[in-house]
Amino acid sequence: MRTTTGWQTADSASGLNRVPLERRDLRPDDVAVRVDYCGVCHTDLHAVRSGEGHPLVPGHEFTGVVTETGRAVTKLGIGDPVAVGNIVDSCGVCAMCRVGQQNFCHEFPTLTYGGVDRVDGSTTLGGYARECVVRERFAHALPAGLDPASAAPLLCAGITVWEPLRALDVGPGSRVAVAGLGGLGHLAVKMAVALGAAITVISRSPAKVDDARKLGAHDLIVSTDEAQLNGARERFDVLLDTISAPHDLAPYLRLVALDGTLSQVGYLGPVSVATIDLLIGRKRLTSAGSGGLPATAEMLEFCASHGITADIELLPSAQVNEALQRLARNDVRYRFVLDLSDLD
Ligand SMILES: NC(=O)c1ccc[n+]([C@@H]2O[C@H](COP(=O)([O-])OP(=O)(O)OC[C@H]3O[C@@H](n4cnc5c(N)ncnc54)[C@H](OP(=O)(O)O)[C@@H]3O)[C@@H](O)[C@H]2O)c1
Ligand SMILES: [Zn+2]
Ligand SMILES: [Zn+2]
Repeated sequence: MRTTTGWQTADSASGLNRVPLERRDLRPDDVAVRVDYCGVCHTDLHAVRSGEGHPLVPGHEFTGVVTETGRAVTKLGIGDPVAVGNIVDSCGVCAMCRVGQQNFCHEFPTLTYGGVDRVDGSTTLGGYARECVVRERFAHALPAGLDPASAAPLLCAGITVWEPLRALDVGPGSRVAVAGLGGLGHLAVKMAVALGAAITVISRSPAKVDDARKLGAHDLIVSTDEAQLNGARERFDVLLDTISAPHDLAPYLRLVALDGTLSQVGYLGPVSVATIDLLIGRKRLTSAGSGGLPATAEMLEFCASHGITADIELLPSAQVNEALQRLARNDVRYRFVLDLSDLD
């Protein structure tokens, strides 16, 4: 085993503590990555506050540099900048893996934290740590020109909105709404704008209207304003819902156009839907999560060529508990990224 330092929960109440951590010795197809920057995803907050799964080292969108390679590693070398998302392994042979959708692996993909390692059965520990050991296939080369700190959130927030935008054929002429202007939402706006779509943000926060425009949106609908919601009835071909809390889908479905789609990627618990809200207008309800290896590589290239990264607030990792508290209060524009160099 090799040792590193990271931020770990003891339980759901006491926040994260700086602790020594063990990483596995490199297998032939592993690389060791010095983690430089790790985004703080709302899923980390859900996990830290959950009653289960502790002790936990969160973090599943990070960038860093390869420091060591296993003997069978061919694509990456020492010193290469890499990016890792929320999947670090999959079976590789099922129908989903074969079509490049490792995120839907029939054996369930190995999550970057709180997952079960496919070889040794250990619980995976995430990127709130100075070093990670990861299978080469799941460490993406970070394209030149992407700033490693603000690119880190592309690996969870970015890919999670990229796959549905692409699967739903968002492009020039598409009328797209993004509900919830947070980490996922602001990247969805940037990506959909770059794909050529016309974007509206739907937010509880009227104070975000200027930001929405700066991100490239045409419009912001305040979700608590009935008149604004009524005025936008059946206006959108695609409504990407990134809201982090349980909520009624009916008011959002009313905004979807004939044969349009509501893609719910934010809150992943049970939802109830009245069939009539889908029937009227032949509307579709779908979801998505994370991304396969080919889509992740495609997304990184697209972001590099369009200059897309997250709008971040970079914090020393010692401020991780404050970052989580502020994220819970919706006090972030639009993603916290931890600088792990203070763990040296
Ligand atoms: N599908 C996946 O694989 C996947 C991947 C990553 C994250 N997630 C999930 O996606 C969700 C969003 O993550 P994130 O990191 O983008 O979170 P975030 O930065 O906190 O953004 C969530 C946004 O949702 C809106 N919101 C929050 N509470 C709300 C409420 N009670 N009612 C209405 N709107 C509310 C807020 O936007 P406004 O201020 O604009 O209203 C907030 O900025 C989380 O639940 C996370 O677990 C899913
Ligand atoms: Zn995430
Ligand atoms: Zn598989």
